[in-house]
Amino acid sequence: MSTIAVGSDHGGFTLKGRLADELRSLGYEVIDLGTHSDDRVDYPDFGAAVGRAVAGGEAELGVCVCGSGIGIAMAANKVPGVRAATVHDATSARLAREHTDANVLCLGERLLDPEVASVAVRAWLGAEFEGGRHVGRVAKLAELDGSGT
Ligand code: RB5
Repeated sequence: MSTIAVGSDHGGFTLKGRLADELRSLGYEVIDLGTHSDDRVDYPDFGAAVGRAVAGGEAELGVCVCGSGIGIAMAANKVPGVRAATVHDATSARLAREHTDANVLCLGERLLDPEVASVAVRAWLGAEFEGGRHVGRVAKLAELDGSGT
């Protein structure tokens, strides 16, 4: 089973813990890169940590949570090789995998019902990259950040 790196700022701390527990119960190995309390911190630190874990191969996938799911996605996407997607439901999560092969999923604790977030994560994990017409587009993303082969 794959290893999944998880990270959040204070705005995503509670949901990150819940999702980490669920991922463990599904059999995934989870690397929790923090934050480890609800003390105020900066989301770029944790988005970057998850992005580096995924791009560096310590984890196959990453899950990031902040208040909106936006800032932490911006941070993760600064790491070459990361395709982080902010999603709001099962459909956007599934498409993030099927069309864009997102390797980091980002969610907003202040915007999402926790059950919706759980269902979204499971939809993403259960989906597969469709390939085909999407391959060249994902390759162009890699060209943009210099991570393409
Ligand atoms: C923190 O207050 C909040 O700005 C952060 O969690 C996130 O929503 C940023 O995109």
